[in-house]
Amino acid sequence: MDHHHRRRRLLLSTTLLSLLCLAFISEAESASFKIVNKCRRTIWPGLLSGAGTAPLPTTGFALKSGKSRTVTIPKSWSGRIWGRSLCTQHANNQTFSCVTGDCGSGKVECAGGGAEPPTTLAEFTLNGDQGLDFYDVSLVDGYNLPMLVLPKGGKGGGCAATGCLIDLNGACPAELKVARGRTGGGVACKSACEAFHDPRYCCSDAYATPDTCAPSVYSLFFKHACPRAYSYAYDDKTSTYTCASADYIIVFCPPPYTSLKLLGSRKDGALLPLVNKTTMYIASRHAHGR
Ligand SMILES: *[C@@H]1O[C@H](CO)[C@@H](O)[C@H](O)[C@H]1NC(C)=O
Ligand SMILES: *[C@@H]1O[C@H](CO)[C@@H](O)[C@H](O)[C@H]1NC(C)=O
Repeated sequence: MDHHHRRRRLLLSTTLLSLLCLAFISEAESASFKIVNKCRRTIWPGLLSGAGTAPLPTTGFALKSGKSRTVTIPKSWSGRIWGRSLCTQHANNQTFSCVTGDCGSGKVECAGGGAEPPTTLAEFTLNGDQGLDFYDVSLVDGYNLPMLVLPKGGKGGGCAATGCLIDLNGACPAELKVARGRTGGGVACKSACEAFHDPRYCCSDAYATPDTCAPSVYSLFFKHACPRAYSYAYDDKTSTYTCASADYIIVFCPPPYTSLKLLGSRKDGALLPLVNKTTMYIASRHAHGR
């Protein structure tokens, strides 16, 4: 009896010990994403995990202007993060919905729902090939909010900042613009693929390879304004960045002048500038305020 009891206790403590070890390992191997809202209004970040990756502690939340929230991300996570804007909790039917970036869950948590385009996306594959994190900011599904991705404490790779720092909702070409109401200002900017459903813009059908799908006047509008962001499906060379074992800061509506100044001192080796000063000027004349 006594013997039996002791063995059980031993078993229990071994289990506890291995649980503690597991907790420690997963702690040490996770990354932290600090999500910052520098927009003038509340935004609702959404997070979507790729197939087969570990679940996240949150899939969506409200973030007031000037606030930040740090989310622990499993080390080999892949997925996307975006911002939802102009969201409302409807009193009559109890559902939650957003004018841009809506994930269709009817709730603040996206719970596996992806962003409805047009939405600026930050895309990540952590701990991928050769232990590197791969990340980009994509305008392939259009644009809704300016976004900056900034790696911190990386131990290899280029670790360049990327993003789209300019407010393009005002400067968006009329045929791509999503406005709120008839006279309202722009709230998002569609991709040419979404606006025209043309295989040439979507890089589909006869245009489904890097050689046959060229940049268009529309993708060049995005590329010129945000040189490091993905502007169409085969824009890989200048739009994907890598870093090893880093944490990330994701800033919505980063002040472009300040960011440019702060980041200007970083020698990150990226080919293209983070901000095109020419388009920054053009965009600021079109800005409606957010
Ligand atoms: C809920 O009500 C709002 C209007 O108050 C409406 O715009 C929205 O589409 C409704 N959602 C659903 C799921 O019925
Ligand atoms: C900056 O924008 C202008 C057009 O406004 C464009 O001609 C130029 O190529 C852009 N530069 C970069 C690095 O994208």
